[in-house]
Amino acid sequence: MSMSIAELERTLAQLRLSGARDTLQTRLEQAQASQMTAQELLALLLQDELDRRQSRLIDKRYKDSHLDEKVTLAEIDWSFNPKVPRAACFELQTLKFVSEGANALLIGKPGTGKSHVAKAVAYHAVQQGLKVAYLEADTDFGRYALAEPRERELMLQRLLAADLLVLDDLFLAKRVSEVAAELLQTLVHQRHRRRASVLVTSNRVIRDWGTYLGDMTMASTILDRLMHRSRLLEFEGKSYRLKEAAQRLAIKAPAD
Ligand SMILES: Nc1ncnc2c1ncn2[C@@H]1O[C@H](COP(=O)(O)OP(=O)(O)OP(=O)(O)O)[C@@H](O)[C@H]1O
Ligand SMILES: [Mg+2]
Repeated sequence: MSMSIAELERTLAQLRLSGARDTLQTRLEQAQASQMTAQELLALLLQDELDRRQSRLIDKRYKDSHLDEKVTLAEIDWSFNPKVPRAACFELQTLKFVSEGANALLIGKPGTGKSHVAKAVAYHAVQQGLKVAYLEADTDFGRYALAEPRERELMLQRLLAADLLVLDDLFLAKRVSEVAAELLQTLVHQRHRRRASVLVTSNRVIRDWGTYLGDMTMASTILDRLMHRSRLLEFEGKSYRLKEAAQRLAIKAPAD
């Protein structure tokens, strides 16, 4: 039995092997040009299919993470704020803390790169095939508070199922609603029980968290679990946003 290339491609598509279908023509030409064995040709096509599936999985993981940008540690100018804990940032990106079920707290001054580092670590985790859930804390807690019970349940399930949960810019607005505080408590408690990692960034000092939550006991039970098995990274220094703003102004300023 012999099939034309078009028929082979159609069959591969029917079998949902679109990675192999898309490279078939090229691989057949390559096989002919280099006198490849049938076994070698098949191995290449199967690898093409596996590669396609892996990259689709990563695309899906990225979409499901709700990350809003793909950033890396390579974009950080480490000389700008020499006190930013560079080694600890790279250590986080090894994701050992995730496999250990540990947490990470990135605390410190505004504009020093906490969210950037958190997103870089999260994006790296996505590329490793991990399930990541990224929350812009204030916005997403607000969305949760307004959601219907069914929708809340689905959100909660997603946030609990992730291998890594990122709570970015926690307490930016200082006060959180009672619903948001309870969500935070549920997330931290349940993930702690399951040894599932949480990465938090905040420019609010930890001792004030109780005030923002409006409940000191709740704050201490949350903190107790977050700090247990945790990496604490302190970000000291000046705001990179101000540097960027100053540069923009300099560009706009009329030349003398
Ligand atoms: N050292 C750096 N080198 C290059 N870019 C940086 C550096 N630090 C911060 N940035 C950039 O500056 C902007 C602000 O950084 P980021 O949002 O990570 O700060 P933050 O510490 O989370 O601040 P906040 O506490 O206000 O949330 C981002 O666009 C980030 O990419
Ligand atoms: Mg931030």
